[in-house]
Parts: sequence; structure tokens; C-alpha cells
Amino acid sequence: MLDGTRFVAKHLEKALADEWMAHYQYWIGSILVNDRYENVVAQFVEHAGQEYDHATEIGAWLLKNAPRDGRVPTSLDELLRGPHHCGYKEPVMNDPKSLVHDSIQGEACAIRFYSELITAIDGKEYYGGNLPDMLEWILKDEKTHMSDLQKLLKTL
Ligand SMILES: [Fe+2]
Ligand SMILES: [Fe+2]
Repeated sequence: MLDGTRFVAKHLEKALADEWMAHYQYWIGSILVNDRYENVVAQFVEHAGQEYDHATEIGAWLLKNAPRDGRVPTSLDELLRGPHHCGYKEPVMNDPKSLVHDSIQGEACAIRFYSELITAIDGKEYYGGNLPDMLEWILKDEKTHMSDLQKLLKTL
């Protein structure tokens, strides 16, 4: 069984890749979708920025707290081919409904992932001090993203 820091680091390595993929998913969606769906474009741009922030915080946490247990890929190829959990869903068309649906699936996966990790580390002390706060902050954002997307879907 993996020791505590290694356990957390392995999960956060996957989360780092997922956050970058989510960032890209929103970014590509924001330029694929027709500009006349300006509320979709605006939401995707906002979410893309927040997924980027999540990746930044997770990468910084890994480097500071688990430099021997967690990899922060310096190669893009490694990031894309390395371990991940929710992954990237390549858009099949530029239809806004389909793009929003893809992101809803991604957010549902992220919410499950962070909820399970928060439960797994509950009460444990092996991690760097701000880990629970960081995970709760990210989870709150993912839940907001989900409700933003569900509201958006009703307008399409
Ligand atoms: Fe995220
Ligand atoms: Fe999200």
C-alpha cells in the first residue's frame, strides 16, 4: 500500500493532468462555438481560466510538498500520456449543446474525484497543511461550473 504522501501525490498527478485537459476543453470550446452564442463563449472562457488556476495550485502543491513522490511533467507529451482520471473528450462538432454536454460530463467526474479524495484524507495529517483547503476550494469551483453549465444548457 502506498504511504500517505505518495497516495495523495499520485492522485494529484492525475488531477493536474485533468485540470490541464479541462482548461483545454473549455478553451477549444470557446473558439469553436459560434460567437453568436456569446453566453456560452463567456462561460467557457471563465471556466478555462479557473481550470488553469486549479492546475497551477496543484502543480505548486506537488513541488512544495511532495517533490519526491509526485511528478509535475515538464514535457507536454508526458502530461497528455501520463496518468489521468477524467481525461479529455475531443469535441466532435461545434454545436454548443454538445460542447456543454461534454463539459458537464467532465465536471461530474471532477466532482466525484475531489469528493472521494477529500473523504480519503479526512482526519489524516500526512499532507501539507493547505491540502484540504485547496481541495475544498477546487471542489466548490467544480460544483459552480456544473450549475453554470446546467443553467446554460436550458438557454440553448
Ligand atoms: Fe478544475
Ligand atoms: Fe471545472
